[in-house]
Formats: sequence, structure tokens, C-alpha cells
Amino acid sequence: MPLLGLGVWQVRDGRECVDAVRFALELGYRHIDTAQAYGNEESVGRALRESGIAREEVFVTTKFFPRQKDAAAAAEESLLRLGLDYVDLYVIHWPEGGPTWAWPGMEAARDRGQARSIGVSNFDVDELEQLLAIAEVPPVVDQVQFNPYAFRRKLLAACEEHAIVLEAYSPLGTGRHLTGETVEKIAASVERTPAQVLIRWCIERDIPVIPKSTHRERIAENARVFDFTLSRDQLEELDELDRTNGTGRAQEHKWWSG
Ligand code: A2P
Repeated sequence: MPLLGLGVWQVRDGRECVDAVRFALELGYRHIDTAQAYGNEESVGRALRESGIAREEVFVTTKFFPRQKDAAAAAEESLLRLGLDYVDLYVIHWPEGGPTWAWPGMEAARDRGQARSIGVSNFDVDELEQLLAIAEVPPVVDQVQFNPYAFRRKLLAACEEHAIVLEAYSPLGTGRHLTGETVEKIAASVERTPAQVLIRWCIERDIPVIPKSTHRERIAENARVFDFTLSRDQLEELDELDRTNGTGRAQEHKWWSG
């Protein structure tokens, strides 16, 4: 999985999404993250086809919308919308109804070749452990909101312990964290932008990260994160912004449970 991807949550289906994915692919991104719930898989598929880039060069993730019954049947519908034969990664979008019921369908999607690998999103430590107890094929990824303000140390440690890759969504705090004093100060001192500092904070830990933007210049800016580093002191200063107390939770607001 390439460390940097484009996330297309809250990107409108149609021109906006096709353009965002096209910009990203033109700028060298080879990792696109969509979901059934985003309603923009068709646009992602269209941009991939129009790019002319070979299928195997791009890592494509989609997510099972857990208000459906059957993850394998839903995967087939995703593939039709995407116009692909397989996705590289298929994850349960959130553990609605519990962490285990959907997993046999996820395993079936993998067995059938609809997904090269399977994982989860928004699963906390306890939910991961319940899933690992019943899984024949363990999840390879837990995609969660992760950034210096939500530095989920206990969840990261549990993922590492179980050889699950923690993947960071909302690395910019959906834009909120771009104006923090510490982030701005560090950005000025390394002559980079706040977005680049926040993305680099993940890259420094080898955490795959999927910033979202619809603007070509920002998509380009967010990818220029492999030609500078943050010092240990700068990383520690960013770590201290955590407001979750190093939580093992994946979400402070579980929108799916009542
Ligand atoms: P836009 O899509 O209008 O460019 P996250 O990845 O944490 O969800 O954050 C996404 C938000 O941050 C979006 O509102 C996006 O706006 C904005 N954003 C993404 N990249 C940048 C950037 N480099 N500079 C400023 N804002 C950005």
C-alpha cells in the first residue's frame, strides 16, 4: 500500500470527484480511497479508466457500508460501479451491529478475488480483538481518524501487536488542525505548509495517510512530503497536541450506535 493516498470522503460524485482523482493520478498518487457510503465510486472508476494508468499500478480501497447484509454481494456492486475486476483493499466502514457479523462476507469477497486484502475502519482495540478471535483471515488494516490531536497510542500499539496496519484518515482534522499554533510554528521552521507537516507526522511513523482535497494545487502540496523530515523534538511537540489521552478508541463519536 503506498504510504500516501487521496481520500475522497465528501467529494461530490461527478465532475468534482473525477477531477480530484485525475489531478492526483497526474501528480503521481497511486492510491485512492473511496467507500460505498461516499456515493462516488463511479467517478473514481471513470478517472482511473481515463488516466490510462495500468490497473496494477494503482492501489484502490473501498469500504463496505455496514447497513447492508452481505459484504461480498456489496463488493460485487462496488466493482460494477468502479468498473474494476478487484479492489486492493476492502474494509468494513464501521462496526455497526458489532465487530464480527460482516467478516465472513468480507472473507468471501477475498476468496472470490473481489478484494486482494480485507480490513476494517473505525474499530477500537476491543473490537479488533473480538474480530481476531473469530477471523479465519485476519484484518490487515484498521483505518481510523489519526493525527497529532488524535494520537491514538493504545490503538496504534494494539495494531502493531497484531500486525495490523493503522491507516490515518482526516490527517488534517478535516482542515481544522491547519491553523494550530504549534503546527504553524513548526511549518514555518521547516519552510513547509501546515498540511505538509501534519501529513509528514504520519509518514515519519510509516503510517499510510489519505488527505482529502479537491484542489489541484493542494493535492500537489500534500504529496510533497517525501523530501523533508521532522526532528525528534518537532515530532514530540506535535505528539503533545493529543487530546484523546492516547486512547485505544477509534472514534469519540460513534455515529452508528444510537
Ligand atoms: P479542499 O478539499 O477544499 O481542498 P482531511 O484530509 O483531514 O479530511 O482534511 C480535508 C480538508 O482540508 C478539506 O476541507 C480540504 O479542502 C482541506 N485541505 C486539504 N489539503 C489542504 C491544504 N494543503 N491546504 C489547505 N487545506 C487543505
